[in-house]
Amino acid sequence: MSDRITFIARYVGIKDDWPGYSLDLFSYPAHYSGDLDCVIIPHGVIMDRTERLARNIMDDLGNHAIVVLCVLKGGYQFCADLVDRIKDLSHNSNRTIPMTVHFIRLKSYLNDESTEDLHILGGEDLSLLAGKGIVGTGKTMKTLLKHVEAFGPKMIKVAGLLVKRVPHSSACVPDYVGFEIPNRFVVGYALDYNEYFRDLSHICVISDTGKMKYKI
Ligand code: HPA
Ligand code: MG
Repeated sequence: MSDRITFIARYVGIKDDWPGYSLDLFSYPAHYSGDLDCVIIPHGVIMDRTERLARNIMDDLGNHAIVVLCVLKGGYQFCADLVDRIKDLSHNSNRTIPMTVHFIRLKSYLNDESTEDLHILGGEDLSLLAGKGIVGTGKTMKTLLKHVEAFGPKMIKVAGLLVKRVPHSSACVPDYVGFEIPNRFVVGYALDYNEYFRDLSHICVISDTGKMKYKI
């Protein structure tokens, strides 16, 4: 027997010692100059990876209808781009997949700290999920999964753009993951720091100056 271990990558891994790209190499809103340390995932790479995730989801779900549950606010951009790619792919193949899109809002972060209480704010009546497949996007999975499972969907699949490399984590890992990143606070592509930086297209590491400037 071969003792070689075959490693099947499920996501793009960004190493802990990856210094990121200098901000000077990309364009970004001038109002954030000084507030960021580096670009860790440029927008174009996010889009390329999202296209591939869309293909994986299509391959796995066959012709089942999809009920998409987008987790606001941080998940809106990824969800919108992922849904667009699924639409393109289903349009370009002969397998059109019926899709509806729903929204739920979660809040758990103040400054760059996760607070104990996770709030499910507003959102829709999720009873429509009964008996359907879901691709959720966003973060803060565990609580949400429990909440969603209670409605008895046929299948639940979770897509997350990012997972953080946290030592000894017992957190659940999404079924579809874009990137595994170092355990640093990142912003951009709809991810915020106290509501700022959602209008930045790249995923960046916030600087100490940025943290001070927008601290509550
Ligand atoms: N950035 C923004 N929001 C977040 C993060 C992060 O790194 N982690 C959890 N919520
Ligand atoms: Mg947030």
